[in-house]
Amino acid sequence: MLISGEQIASRVIEMGRQITNDCGGQAVVFVGVLKGAAIFLSDLVRQVEVDASFDFIGVASYGNPRGPKQEKIWDSTGEVRLTKDVEHSLRDQNVILVEDILDTGLTLSFLKRLLLGHQPKSFRVAVLLDKTSRRKLAFEADYVGFTIPDAFVVGYGLDYAEKYRNLRDIYVLPTPPAVD
Ligand code: IMP
Ligand code: MG
Repeated sequence: MLISGEQIASRVIEMGRQITNDCGGQAVVFVGVLKGAAIFLSDLVRQVEVDASFDFIGVASYGNPRGPKQEKIWDSTGEVRLTKDVEHSLRDQNVILVEDILDTGLTLSFLKRLLLGHQPKSFRVAVLLDKTSRRKLAFEADYVGFTIPDAFVVGYGLDYAEKYRNLRDIYVLPTPPAVD
């Protein structure tokens, strides 16, 4: 186990307070990245004391699927494509994009460019986890729950092959032994 459900809950309360303070009473649209951020978003929005609405956006990476064999598998994802767009225009809205994990930065760089095209009034990014050492594109989130080392993690929304999203804590998935 890397981060317990209790640690997550108290950090999410702090992040909610920080967002509440930064919003100055203005309404916010939270945009969650499917599917991993759904659990984080649902906990976070309940800790924010401003008028909030939410929407979801979906993306997929080209190339091989992600997995615990880090270099071989996930470094080959080069590009991101949209699988589900937001339902409402974000024009003149205060937008907070909510993501489970910031890794290479490809996904959030792509989504930031896309959502800025809506001409929101303000745009910020909240991530639960940040693997700073894996960045390929420079990207900084405005709100970060935890900075973590370079390991493949699951739980609290994060999956491996669609499994483990419902775990309450966050775990490191061990790298399976190489088979030849
Ligand atoms: P990026 O585009 O490389 O920053 O990757 C972001 C996406 O990769 C996240 O939205 C996650 O879905 C996925 N991802 C990256 N690292 C992990 C991990 O350790 N566990 C599960 N998913 C991950
Ligand atoms: Mg994701």
